[in-house]
Amino acid sequence: MNIVVIGTGYVGLVTGVGLSDIGHSVICVDLDESKIEKLNAGVSPIYEPGIEDLIHKNVSAGRLSFTSSFKEAMKDSDIVYLAVGTPEGPDGRAEMKYIESAAEMIATEMTRPTILVVKSTVPVGTNRKLQNQMAEIAPYPVSVVSNPEFLREGSAVHDIFHGDRIVLGSDDIGALETLKAVNEGFDIPILATNLESAELIKYASNAFLATKISFINEIANICESTGGDIRQVSKGMGMDHRIGSPFLNAGIGYGGSCFPKDTSALNEIAMDAGVDFKLLREVIETNKNQRLKLVKELKMRYASLEGKKIAVLGVAFKPNTDDIRDAPAITIIRELLDSGAYVTAYDPIAYENAKKVFGEEVYFAKTVKQALQDAEAVLIVTEWDEVKEVSPKEMLELMKTPIVIDGRQCFDMHEMKEHGLDYYSVGVGEIDAKEVVGN
Ligand code: UGA
Repeated sequence: MNIVVIGTGYVGLVTGVGLSDIGHSVICVDLDESKIEKLNAGVSPIYEPGIEDLIHKNVSAGRLSFTSSFKEAMKDSDIVYLAVGTPEGPDGRAEMKYIESAAEMIATEMTRPTILVVKSTVPVGTNRKLQNQMAEIAPYPVSVVSNPEFLREGSAVHDIFHGDRIVLGSDDIGALETLKAVNEGFDIPILATNLESAELIKYASNAFLATKISFINEIANICESTGGDIRQVSKGMGMDHRIGSPFLNAGIGYGGSCFPKDTSALNEIAMDAGVDFKLLREVIETNKNQRLKLVKELKMRYASLEGKKIAVLGVAFKPNTDDIRDAPAITIIRELLDSGAYVTAYDPIAYENAKKVFGEEVYFAKTVKQALQDAEAVLIVTEWDEVKEVSPKEMLELMKTPIVIDGRQCFDMHEMKEHGLDYYSVGVGEIDAKEVVGN
């Protein structure tokens, strides 16, 4: 099968590389020539652990190539994967402009009947509209298949080969059979649905995971004032298979380019469908409030942050990515700056992107220790390994005032207190369970 993948963001690139790795001939196309130049030089334009090794392997095997020419990519293609962005528009709805222009280009350059596989996250009804639009503008028959992605940034290479399911939505039985055959090499269960169900599975899955996070964060807030320990509560809840342990880590709320955008978009979809999705709006609201917790906690220790040197450890929305889109750190740092604090931030990978946002307003340290030097408090925002490896003794030695506000449960309350640190950990109540039960 000759497959074209349009878009070399993390979804398109990981999909293209994955399909080539299971034996297909894949051309990835992106109009951004600088990205294609990098890829042709064997360099990934996105930070994703393991991707470059797979690019080298499949390019060397002659199964994978990159181009910025639509015409060249389309000339021998049977299947086109669409993986362009659908960012949140000003009204909270997903923006369709990249999908629409890609569809027009496909119609212009196609040379035969084509299956159009939509990976991009699109509102319910979009794939059917696309099917109708292509019937009007394309010179050959086009079958649209909705194939939502479930890749997590930072572990996308693992996820493409070890997903829980592949969802294929279409009304065209022939196209579904072809796509099932294309995906056979992944050896992942396939669920065939209609177009609308496939679109909804994606939004509902992300919104449900976001709901789990907001739920556990509210339980964490209850723990703090009752003496509970959210780590134990999450563990106890997760041991019930009906609940499951993933996505029960309390913290400072979800961020990134998916959950915030997709929860807003689903709320809009619900409204359009005449459904008042109050629960989802509460999930979104809880998440916004959770982001403010660390600075609130800090302000309980300092009446004013004017001139205080505050260290922030981690800027990326989660470890193993350089992505800072809708990262809680952005809100937190902005609040610190607005309160007059001097911010020294550390992030092993995302500092370049963070510099683009904050410029000279924030000093970016090269190491965790450098960030901690003379700090009057530290806020832990992303649970990078480098951050978890700092010892309480080092914090005590380096910091001017040993106040540690931990939004990611990186340390043990008992140990930190034993060392004399003023330690706050999200979801851990003042009455330390360890002291109570003596373990
Ligand atoms: C998410 C989904 O997990 C993927 O299945 C989906 O394909 C992707 O969105 C997408 O729509 O493209 P991603 O945003 O990369 O993936 O990251 P997650 O690992 O899901 O984390 C999202 C946020 O939730 C992060 O800020 C993370 O810190 C937070 N989180 C996650 C928690 O606060 N607690 C948890 O227990 C888990």
